[in-house]
Amino acid sequence: MANEKIVKKLTDLTQLDIDAAHAYDQALKHIDNKEHYNNIARFRDDHIDHINDLSAMIRQYGGTPPEVTKDFKGYLIEGMTAIRSLTGITGALKAMETNEVLTNKTYNAALSDEEANWPNDVLQLLRKNYADEIRHLEYIRQAINILESVKQ
Ligand SMILES: [Fe+2]
Ligand SMILES: [Fe+2]
Repeated sequence: MANEKIVKKLTDLTQLDIDAAHAYDQALKHIDNKEHYNNIARFRDDHIDHINDLSAMIRQYGGTPPEVTKDFKGYLIEGMTAIRSLTGITGALKAMETNEVLTNKTYNAALSDEEANWPNDVLQLLRKNYADEIRHLEYIRQAINILESVKQ
């Protein structure tokens, strides 16, 4: 695939991860349980790593990575809307679940994008990031299940 196309696809993923990092920052304000807070903060940091690693890759392929501003890029609309109206830790985790379903779907689609025919270094990075996204979603779903079973 031409470098230009690689840059374009990696830019989309970077913008998704920028939204995800912002969403985690918002969600953290609603999480008062220390263990969940620390784990969710670590996931936020994973997304920051994703942004930095993708940005380095974009530069390597001759592009300019998107700026990391406080602006919401519009990739995680549903989850961000949920964050604005949420209450409590379960609400925060559910909003994050919505977001992580989308990050998982997007990384999965990127990896199975045959047209992309990713160079090896890009492929390794996408696989690593996707593995993180899978781990995030699993943890969040488990945490929601436990919180909801305790509530009843
Ligand atoms: Fe990410
Ligand atoms: Fe994630």
